[in-house]
Amino acid sequence: MRELVRRLGTGLLLCVMGSAGLLAQGWQHIGKVERVEAFKDGTQDGAELTAGKAKVRITQVSNGIIRVRVAPNGHFPKDFSWALAGTPLPEASSPVQLLDGQSEVKMTAGAVNVSVIKSPLLVTFSDVSGNVLLADEPSLPMGWNGPQVQVWKEMPADENYYALGDKAGPMSRRNRAFTNWNTDEFGWQESSDPLYKTIPFFIGLRKGVAYGVFFDNTYRSSFDFGKEGRDYFSFGADGGELNYYFIAGPEPKRVVEKYATLTGHPPLPPLWSLGYQQCRYSYYPESRVREIVRTFREKKIPADVIYLDIDYQQGYAPFTINREYFPTFEKMVSDLRAQGFRTIVITDLHIKKDANHGYAPYDSGIKNDVFVKNPDGSVFVGKVWPDDSVFPDFTLTRARNWWGSLYKDFVAMGVAGFWNDMNEPSVFLRADKTMPLDTVHRLDDGASVDHRAAHNIYGMENARATYEGLLKLEAGERPFVLTRAAFSGAQRYAATWTGDNSSTWNHLKMSTPMLLSMGISGMPLVGDDIGGFAGSPPADLLTRWFEVGALNPIYRDHTAKGTADQEPWVHGPEHEAIRKKYIELRYRLMPYLYTAIEEAARTGIPLMRPLFLEYPQATEFYGDDRDFLFGRDMFVAPVTTEMVDAQDISLPPGGWYDFWSGARHEHGEKIQLRLRLDEMPLYVRAGAIVPMQAVVQNTGETPDGPLALRVYPGEDCGGSLYEDDGHSLAYQKGEILRIHYACATSPSSLTITSSIEKNAYKPWWTSTSLTVYGAADAPKEVRIGERVTRDWRFDSQTHTVTLTVADALKNWSVRLAF
Ligand code: NOJ
Repeated sequence: MRELVRRLGTGLLLCVMGSAGLLAQGWQHIGKVERVEAFKDGTQDGAELTAGKAKVRITQVSNGIIRVRVAPNGHFPKDFSWALAGTPLPEASSPVQLLDGQSEVKMTAGAVNVSVIKSPLLVTFSDVSGNVLLADEPSLPMGWNGPQVQVWKEMPADENYYALGDKAGPMSRRNRAFTNWNTDEFGWQESSDPLYKTIPFFIGLRKGVAYGVFFDNTYRSSFDFGKEGRDYFSFGADGGELNYYFIAGPEPKRVVEKYATLTGHPPLPPLWSLGYQQCRYSYYPESRVREIVRTFREKKIPADVIYLDIDYQQGYAPFTINREYFPTFEKMVSDLRAQGFRTIVITDLHIKKDANHGYAPYDSGIKNDVFVKNPDGSVFVGKVWPDDSVFPDFTLTRARNWWGSLYKDFVAMGVAGFWNDMNEPSVFLRADKTMPLDTVHRLDDGASVDHRAAHNIYGMENARATYEGLLKLEAGERPFVLTRAAFSGAQRYAATWTGDNSSTWNHLKMSTPMLLSMGISGMPLVGDDIGGFAGSPPADLLTRWFEVGALNPIYRDHTAKGTADQEPWVHGPEHEAIRKKYIELRYRLMPYLYTAIEEAARTGIPLMRPLFLEYPQATEFYGDDRDFLFGRDMFVAPVTTEMVDAQDISLPPGGWYDFWSGARHEHGEKIQLRLRLDEMPLYVRAGAIVPMQAVVQNTGETPDGPLALRVYPGEDCGGSLYEDDGHSLAYQKGEILRIHYACATSPSSLTITSSIEKNAYKPWWTSTSLTVYGAADAPKEVRIGERVTRDWRFDSQTHTVTLTVADALKNWSVRLAF
């Protein structure tokens, strides 16, 4: 024992007392701080602490973002991250103040106080008033065990944990443990873990106050929120650096924003990708694709996208076309385009091993030496859809460039978007479902890492290669990439979906918490397979899925091979009419939706928001996995169970108007609804101004009539509208339209104003119609600007006043006097 203590250092003693079990497993914990020095590296400034052989750097990297790095042997590796956006972070407004005391080092970094107890080294983050936000568990200082690294933190009894990407089950992660190792998990269930993505970022939320932790480590990592211990939680990895960021709130929204500042924002997607998307595994031959598209148009069900899954390819070899099935592929793509449909094709990352048969992706890849190798230097070969396949070495810039160039022909043919599937990477016929851990991934500087380090970023770098390739090939257009695997930062390149779910009510129920978790994990452009992938949904289930899906960021119906057809019309006219109503709803809400998506691209705040994101003080919603906010102002309480006698609705704080009837409700009111199949509860915040439009058959069509504003008077009244050309990068040069709306109430009047912030894009409308809700009586007078108008209508049934501002492309105001 004495020998062990000598070898392991001082911190071990505490470990012996605190967690005898871990001693046996050989963990070393950090010991006593012996030296404290100020440390500065670029804009990061703080302290470097020496404890035995180990060194710890604690630095402020931006306002409210503190980084902790540990080098057990005292040598920090080259500072590099796949996750970080790489753009300079806003410089912190106040420099770090360091106070080296007897037993404690105190660091003040703006609104964050960091205290480091010296013996053993324990880090505590607090706010300026001294409220502890995150503290090392005293009996378990930071530790390492061979290549493994781990941190243990105190876990207050009333703290909740969220995010971590695509974890199944409830949004709250407490009392569960998770592994991050990107995995092709066909037919995953509630308890399946790991899944497709690795987002080593979580949010702690307690009594309305939030903080975040981003553990920037690409190895297999684990997060345990109270499964192992009742009073502490932990996170760590099988290798790599102990390197994490503490992100201060205090509001959860600020945490989400700061995480996006660190790891990047999604680029603004093309407008068409926000329309309805139709997919299946697989539509073929060509005549079937054309038939599907024709049916949408005949039935006047709006849609923007059709997908081609792997069967369009020759022998499942990526970047080929099966000409037997698709004799006039190019013409088909342009005919579909003429019908307002974009084509997205799947291009899996595995390249068919097919030498000297004119299959350029293989031959040119071998020639350019861009495939992942075995330790002996041979190219790694694994089986996937095309049978023997090789795998691009996406950690190399030249391999990513080579991959990006493969899209040239498809882009020239007018294919609009690309789907990167199987990129965990998935490898068949292996127990681990992926590449051997000792495969070699090369880096630009001539060094290499094995699959342990590269696995979790492989899919992200695949999506990056696609995105960057398309940026070059598509000359000024916005690329659209859909990826299955991801790591923190993948949002910079691609939208994503939740993989192979199933056609069950439980999966419909699990959809919302997973999409919400993805949104607060930096990936707001997310959807699931509407109707479920594995299996065939009964009619009611598919209809309910279409309802809630209309208000998901990505709205894509998809199903597996061998399942029943799953298009909106498959269960007869009644179901078709309901599904169509919700698809139309999405298109009617497009101005509001696009405005919220632009906000997500700019700030990282997702379109689909858990209640606690807007109402962190309302603790009763901390465990709400059913409801969500669609943008800031719409509350959705989807029906996700088969039999609803009645659905109880708890509205968020404030007043809310029923979107369908216009009736006003208040927070705290007991609402119990008996719901017909065509009803999905949807409410609008009193105080919201929601821009809408007439139904179109696809986003390329110009809506009829004016821009339609729905005005719901109430507190903090306002709304906004963002528009641009919807497809090019001109928005980056400021070619946009941004308008802010506001309303102000007095006992005898309501004034609505529109102020243009930026007017560098000409929208499709010139006039704006207003529907003002909550009007008890007809107004006595209505003015547009100074001018009194008689051109308005009052509806005593819906308590609405409607009128139109003819010349709305300038600042205007409307006043209703009661
Ligand atoms: C697995 C994907 O998750 C699924 O969406 C796709 O249809 C199949 N691969 C076939 O490409």
